[in-house]
Amino acid sequence: MAWVGAKITGLGAEVPEKVLTNADLEKIVDTTDEWIVTRTGIRERRIVAEDQATSDLAIAASRKAMAHAGVEAGDIDAVIVATVSADYPFPACACLVQSALGIGGFAFDISAGCTGWIYSLVMAEQLVKSGGAKRVLCIGAECLSRITDYTDRNTCVLFGDGAGAAIVEGADEEDNGILAWDLGSDGSDPSILWQPAGGSKIPASHATVDAHDHSVRMRGRDVYVFATRIMGHTCEKTLEKAGLTPDSIALLVPHQANERITQSARERFGMPFDRIVSNVDRYGNTSSASIPIALKESLDAGRAKKDDLILVVGFGAGLTWGSCLLRWRI
Ligand code: UT7
Repeated sequence: MAWVGAKITGLGAEVPEKVLTNADLEKIVDTTDEWIVTRTGIRERRIVAEDQATSDLAIAASRKAMAHAGVEAGDIDAVIVATVSADYPFPACACLVQSALGIGGFAFDISAGCTGWIYSLVMAEQLVKSGGAKRVLCIGAECLSRITDYTDRNTCVLFGDGAGAAIVEGADEEDNGILAWDLGSDGSDPSILWQPAGGSKIPASHATVDAHDHSVRMRGRDVYVFATRIMGHTCEKTLEKAGLTPDSIALLVPHQANERITQSARERFGMPFDRIVSNVDRYGNTSSASIPIALKESLDAGRAKKDDLILVVGFGAGLTWGSCLLRWRI
């Protein structure tokens, strides 16, 4: 059966136990707690144990989302994992998750950087509306610590590990929960934010390993300028499609990259502090996992209730960007 709309019916999040504080990083690279807090707002981040990989976090978050939605493996027929740090270059992390959870149907990964989870929501919405799937598990999961160069102070202070998952299913007009979205991408300069080696352009070699080119490389200032511009732009486009203005939004959940970027989005919309979600101080930047983790935490804390409007917005490697307006239906 095809539906006219879609909605989230369950959410789950998982972060590893191990905490890496700014004080720990002070011992590893030439940085200070003061610099990290002032420039980013980050105080600590979670790091996976040696025997954990991205699929482990994804599976744990998915089990929680399934329990929240009250669904079993047999009720789900598509799995999407948004990630830049999958267990293997291939096969897809989604296939590992699908198998571990005993889900049928089909599974695939999305590579859209930190915007990936928003992309997965939109793909799920399209699948359930077209009748291509009845219920989709949408996951954002990362072990960024595995692709972080802990000798590079420009990047290693920023990233953490985690996963968030949502169940998306069909909805009719009255309980539609995905009201409008905007997605965009621009691949004209991949080197703004990338993992240079290990692909077909620069295959793995002793030289690439020695140069730490299998780690995240970033021109931080350029990403910062892009992020502060694009977040407002994409949110405005989505709100315009829905015929709404920022004052109707109960909660703005931005990708958690840097507290200063988050606050610039808040200022652009003239929003009070209590309507914007920030947990970057505790988890750092977990890329595609950051939005579902922040969303889950804020809903658990009662910061939005059934039928409230929630706007999620992200930006990341690609470059990619996107926003999605949700009416919360749980
Ligand atoms: O999910 C998307 C992924 N990426 C992002 O969201 C990143 C977006 N960008 C940012 O968040 C910020 O640009 C950073 C936090 C990365 C950097 O903050 P900034 O205010 O843009 O600093 P900057 O790049 O202009 O660097 C200022 C100085 C430089 O020193 P010099 O050249 O002025 O002497 C850096 O070498 O800060 C230095 N620096 C550090 N110092 C201490 C860079 N990293 C560190 C560090 N500790 N960890």
